[in-house]
Amino acid sequence: MEVKLSPSILGANFLKLEETIVKLKKQGIKELHIDIMDGHFVPNIAFGIDQIKMIKQIACDIELDVHLMVTNPEIFIDALVEAGANTITIHQESSPHIYNLMYIIKSFGIKVGVALNPATPINTLKHISHMVNKILIMTVEPGFGGQSFIEPMMEKINEVSNFIKSENIECELQVDGGINLENIGKVVENGATNIVVGSAIFREEDIDSTIKRFREAIL
Ligand code: DX5
Ligand code: ZN
Repeated sequence: MEVKLSPSILGANFLKLEETIVKLKKQGIKELHIDIMDGHFVPNIAFGIDQIKMIKQIACDIELDVHLMVTNPEIFIDALVEAGANTITIHQESSPHIYNLMYIIKSFGIKVGVALNPATPINTLKHISHMVNKILIMTVEPGFGGQSFIEPMMEKINEVSNFIKSENIECELQVDGGINLENIGKVVENGATNIVVGSAIFREEDIDSTIKRFREAIL
């Protein structure tokens, strides 16, 4: 499976968002990662439906990968689909009815992801693996960009990669949090196929050459 880079818009300069998305498009980016936070599931607030609609207008054929960090994910599904989400990822910890939610998301004909916080064990995936298009391993506690990668998550990535192989499913393995040019190689070696990068791209002055360097690091 080709390794995909998914820049996290949370780290971008909002005042230059359109310009930034055009740059990412020119660099061949196929997916944008968009974090939704409700100030309850995580101690931060980010992105509403209207902003996603606006991003969709500029992003065009770049897929929108929506990472839902909210306490009641079911409230947002319809509106997110209408706003143009191509994938909706829900947190295992955010609902006791993950299966039902996955079913609803898939019934809209879009992809569904399941995210696991650092402390959540991977065996929660066992009985829903046939439904999932993307497994998101949080490599920081969710809520903020710019945090440091939690080192024991490297082993978790490896375990989930083996799990995906053993289940023989078509499923991306996404990692999110603290990814940089120093650790991306190892993350990919351990089986990650979809890499979310926020601050390590957007804090740089020259986004074009930074994306190129990330690409080279995962070749
Ligand atoms: C954190 C978010 C991430 C964040 C990653 O909860 O889910 O998507 O933007 O940012 P970095 O790459 O800076 O850790
Ligand atoms: Zn995220």
